[in-house]
Amino acid sequence: MLRASLLYLSEQPRVFSFVRGSRLAWYVASRFVAGETLDAAVPKVRDLNGRGITASLDLLGESVTAAAEARTAAATVVQMLDRIVAERLDCNVSVKLTQMGLDLDAGLCAENLRRILDRARDVGSFVRIDMESSAHTERTLGLFEGELFPVYRDRVGIVIQSYLRRSAADIERLAALGARVRLCKGAYKEPEAVAFPRKADVNRSYAELMEVLLQRGNYPALATHDPALIARARRFAEASGIAASRFEFQMLYGIRRDLQEELKRAGYNVRVYVPFGTHWYPYFMRRLAERPANVAFILGNVLKESVRR
Ligand code: FDA
Repeated sequence: MLRASLLYLSEQPRVFSFVRGSRLAWYVASRFVAGETLDAAVPKVRDLNGRGITASLDLLGESVTAAAEARTAAATVVQMLDRIVAERLDCNVSVKLTQMGLDLDAGLCAENLRRILDRARDVGSFVRIDMESSAHTERTLGLFEGELFPVYRDRVGIVIQSYLRRSAADIERLAALGARVRLCKGAYKEPEAVAFPRKADVNRSYAELMEVLLQRGNYPALATHDPALIARARRFAEASGIAASRFEFQMLYGIRRDLQEELKRAGYNVRVYVPFGTHWYPYFMRRLAERPANVAFILGNVLKESVRR
């Protein structure tokens, strides 16, 4: 119920206008968001690299409503790639297709992606295409498999969500193709017809898809903070003779830093997704929805503030 309400609110831009002015909201959001500017995010990436952890920088923003906005976002991602090279960071980038104009014009979106991928190829980097709600899954996979992967191969990767009923078939196809896949559980509000409503089914699906990727995938990225799934991945890889260098674990900035370091110490590759930018509201709300304790934390702080007054 709380998850559904928070995910509903994440899609309400008017609430963002209200929240953006709140110091408390930014205080809590800054646990998950590396700053509002690239200058603020770069030191966070450097700090991760200093601890042997790689990163994926993400310019926050989604569902743009004007072509100019999409072109500006693409130009910023190109600048991010240049900055990563200039600062010698061990870091790639993640992008969302609705930020690149997918809902406005598929041709514009593809053109923006090609601009980014051309630069990624020039500088030897990698671009991960995040997966958004199921309204975009087919178009995202269509662009990836039809236009981007055939040209850019190892420079571009995709994301699959274990909560979607369709994902087993998608994983089989992508593994056969040799495409690089990040596997996550999925963060959007979805109808039962397309996504498993029960957490146990989402986790079971994750475990099954993860094993396919570990056995047959191209350097899969296991994106989760779930200790049971991480332990299962480690056991499976060890029992199947899959070297730790053949896959990576991924986590979100600000979540389970202890686990990130523990995995790194145990010899695994770990990458942290580092979002930054002014459009942090929907991302922040999805993080709240994942863990009701985060909401309790905010309410506790609001209460403390009001008692102090
Ligand atoms: P789960 O939600 O079961 O959480 C397991 C444990 O992790 C919790 O018990 C808690 O300890 C900790 N935890 C998880 N979320 C937390 C939070 N917000 N605050 C504090 N603790 C938390 N989704 C998507 O739809 N498309 C995408 O492209 C991506 N990309 C992506 C990249 C990376 C690197 C990660 C790690 C995740 C994504 N996601 C995503 C988000 C993903 O789908 C999912 O919503 C979150 O990772 C939470 O799910 P877990 O697998 O961590 O399990």
